[in-house]
Amino acid sequence: MGLQEEISRRRTFAIISHPDAGKTTLTEKLLLFGGAIHVAGAVKSNKIKKTATSDFMEIEKQRGISVATSVMGFEYGGHKVNILDTPGHQDFAEDTFRTLTAVDSVIIVVDAAKGVEAQTRKLMEVCRMRNTPVIVFINKMDRPSKHPFDLLEEVEEELKINVRPLSWPIGNGPSFQGVYNIFEQNLNLFEASKQTLGESISFADINSSELEGYIGDDASAVLREEHEFVEGVYPEFEVEDYLAGNLAPVLFGSALNNFGVNELLDCFLKIAPKPQASNTDLREVKPEEDKFSGFVFKIHANMDPNHRNRIAFVKICSGKFERNKNYLHVRQGKNFKFSSPTAFMAEKKSIIDEAFPGDIVGLPDSGNFIIGDTLTSGEKMSFKGLPSFSPELFRYIENDDPMKSKQLAKGIDQLMDEGVAQLFTSSFNGRKVIGTVGALQFEVIEHRLAHEYNAKCRYEPINLHKACWIRSENAAQLADFKKRKHQYMAKDKQGRDVFLADSSYMLQLAQQNFEDIEFHFTSEF
Ligand code: G4P
Repeated sequence: MGLQEEISRRRTFAIISHPDAGKTTLTEKLLLFGGAIHVAGAVKSNKIKKTATSDFMEIEKQRGISVATSVMGFEYGGHKVNILDTPGHQDFAEDTFRTLTAVDSVIIVVDAAKGVEAQTRKLMEVCRMRNTPVIVFINKMDRPSKHPFDLLEEVEEELKINVRPLSWPIGNGPSFQGVYNIFEQNLNLFEASKQTLGESISFADINSSELEGYIGDDASAVLREEHEFVEGVYPEFEVEDYLAGNLAPVLFGSALNNFGVNELLDCFLKIAPKPQASNTDLREVKPEEDKFSGFVFKIHANMDPNHRNRIAFVKICSGKFERNKNYLHVRQGKNFKFSSPTAFMAEKKSIIDEAFPGDIVGLPDSGNFIIGDTLTSGEKMSFKGLPSFSPELFRYIENDDPMKSKQLAKGIDQLMDEGVAQLFTSSFNGRKVIGTVGALQFEVIEHRLAHEYNAKCRYEPINLHKACWIRSENAAQLADFKKRKHQYMAKDKQGRDVFLADSSYMLQLAQQNFEDIEFHFTSEF
């Protein structure tokens, strides 16, 4: 098969949701349908139990398992499907943001009873920034749910995207009877079953009196009325609108009961985009180009504390990646070749000879890569779109064992390269500040410094509201700002200027008083 065919048949995506909406269940069902796994429960273990915020065994287990489940590839209907796993725990949201830079589309799972929740809203902002096409799967229809029209309105308002239902639920909870597939014009009747697939009944004319025979008089009347309303209110589904990121098709179902999952997978394969072009600091890179290029979006440290090997996950953006071929590590300006690149097929890892755009390869690494690094066949360009986001929680990090300061510095350095958290060094007093998205990261850092680097850290509180990257064309104003706010200035790991505002009021005031200064809440601008 040639490069073009390999690209055309690839679909690389992520499933995102608020914890508990059913992401793990849906992932597992897609893998079951794809024939990639044969028993339920294989993916299930890839979760930190939400209650166990301090359970390090769970964190360790998660880290171990998540190497295997970071990418779940499988073949289905001639397609190579790559599902990129995103951590369920919201404290690891930054990992999820970065994973979203490596996908071409997204499936959003929404709990039919709870509607759109906070985490989903946040992740959708990242999709919107990148115009990533999204499909919405409204899950748990077997439970008492919100009304479908209310859910659609909520998705539209909260996720700020137009919607178009492609299927329509018949009742919900105890009265849930199935869905009418508007896209395919067939009826899928629900059976509460975790193993079998329901047959779909072709039903081109919803007004046919046969409908009553399947779902009864009342449900038929409601379905016809709602269907008419849907067709009247929502415009025709246009794939182009979906691909442009302007319209989200919506499907209903119950992942736990295998209901609606097959339809979702079929619809996904029909409409989801193949690998798309990516931006670099020089130019746009198209997957079809024959020269290889890719970027590191995730680094995973090895579980074994005696070997500090890591795996760098590289998304292939163009051309064919080949084993044992020399590639340029652009940031370091050095050539590297990789003798054991790894591909991930469901639960299995295997060494591969080649990989194509849309694929993810795992490269064993002894500390050469940081997140965002670009590999090319020689061209000196760097992929864009992997920003750090302004953290939400901050603490000073101090050395708690004077004999181990070197180990601590190395440990912090490497954990930051891995993207566990962000480090800011105060320009005022030289103290190091760790910024994270969630509280759990502080525990992870402390634990990993102790176990992997034999170093001991201690945290001290710091009262901070936001860290923002600043820039200005007005050099005089910038210098003045830095002088006046000296005690609030810091450098990030790349040496860029960061303003540490201790309250939203202070930030507002700074924005008002220094009009020529740009305050950025992501590191890429
Ligand atoms: P997450 O990855 O998004 O956090 O969610 P996950 O799939 O773990 O699902 C969260 C809970 O919701 C699980 O129950 C799961 O069984 C249940 N669930 C998922 N899909 C459906 C559905 O379609 N209908 C119903 N009724 N429940 C669903 P749990 O009790 O938290 O976990 P477990 O003990 O079942 O593993």
